[in-house]
Amino acid sequence: MKILIVGSGGREHAIAWKVSQSKLADKIYCAPGNAGIAEYAECVDIKSTELEKLAYFAEKEQIDLTIIGMDAPLVAGIVDIFEKKGLRVFGPRKNAAIIEGSKAFSKDLMKKYHIPTAGYETFDNPDKAISYLKNSDYPMVLKADGLALGKGVLICQDFEEAKAGVKAIMEDKQFGGAGDRLVIEEFMTGREVSVLAFCDGTNIKTMTSAQDYKRAKDGDKGLNTGGMGTFSPSPYYTEEIHEYCMNHIYKPTMDAMKMEGRDFVGILFFGLMLTEKGPKVLEYNARFGDPETQVVLPRMKNDIVEVFEACIEGRLEDIQLEFEDNAAVCVVLASEGYPEYYEKGYIIHGLENFKNKEGYYVFHAGTQKGLDGIVTNGGRVLGITATGTNLKEARKHAYEAAGCIDFKNKYMRNDIAKL
Ligand code: AMP
Ligand code: GLY
Repeated sequence: MKILIVGSGGREHAIAWKVSQSKLADKIYCAPGNAGIAEYAECVDIKSTELEKLAYFAEKEQIDLTIIGMDAPLVAGIVDIFEKKGLRVFGPRKNAAIIEGSKAFSKDLMKKYHIPTAGYETFDNPDKAISYLKNSDYPMVLKADGLALGKGVLICQDFEEAKAGVKAIMEDKQFGGAGDRLVIEEFMTGREVSVLAFCDGTNIKTMTSAQDYKRAKDGDKGLNTGGMGTFSPSPYYTEEIHEYCMNHIYKPTMDAMKMEGRDFVGILFFGLMLTEKGPKVLEYNARFGDPETQVVLPRMKNDIVEVFEACIEGRLEDIQLEFEDNAAVCVVLASEGYPEYYEKGYIIHGLENFKNKEGYYVFHAGTQKGLDGIVTNGGRVLGITATGTNLKEARKHAYEAAGCIDFKNKYMRNDIAKL
């Protein structure tokens, strides 16, 4: 099969690597890809937002299967465009990707179908939001309704902060059109867990659990980022919690989407908070997580292309997902300054040490081929994943490897998977 992957981050590198292991994959393309993905795939110079161009490419090259890694093209309806041309594509249609594209939609869905989540109100008018916030208890959570690169969530400690937040999101449009509507949510406390699941419109099969570290600095300090590291599995996600989530969150969400005429085919990502009152949904994503994918896929035993095919053909029931009985840790190497201003263009040293080294995976995020080698080209540069028999061992391996790779202004958190 000829397979096209759409995206350019560490997540897409992990997907490309996993697809390259499939007996069904003969040729892999990635648009636009990066310097690491280029090892497994032919990178094509089309941006993930150029939907018509991507469809044209898939048609011209007779691509058998396209996998969409990123949220923006899904929410914009790339799957519908491909399907109209009779092209096979893995991901939710626009009317289902809205579960990530609009937080107001997903909150209303959860309310209607009694899926546990934080209490909330939605506002189109900033004055009404502010008068609601005047009489609220704090902390309170403000969320821009639309896609905001994972940054559209503000946790406000008092009314003054909340008022400034409403202004930033709804009036100054800090996150653009994503802030036309605002969701104000009750603050929850507990452990966070990410659970990714394959869906075929009717059936849902979850993958192993993971935990993400979203803040830039050790001890969960600093700004929110796209993710500074992950580990899998989460020891807090017990079999009992899994059963509860399957019956009260995962299956009910699939059924709810079906009832609404929005059958979900693709990856459904559940961001959960394990609260004192049980697990609750923080957010849904309509795609693989980044950097969760970098710890989940190295532990997956199945041929991933077979699973994608089963989802598209509505026969996920026949598939038994299997994961190694080990652990994986991913440490992100970023450019100093990320998620704000950072420099790029610095040579990366030490990559050759991990070529085909069993149990180690160097997933590229922001890299590029330079004249003298691979250079940094983004805030998050690499995700170093290592496996081990348990989390402690995986963590040791991941940090050893992270120490062997160097570039100017390298920055990482030192407490990933330190439980
Ligand atoms: P989201 O993009 O909705 O997952 O939010 C990003 C991060 O903000 C989450 O991973 C949580 O750490 C935090 N967060 C979001 N909603 C809440 C909430 N209701 N209570 C506490 N923290 C939250
Ligand atoms: N790691 C969180 C996300 O992919 O949105």
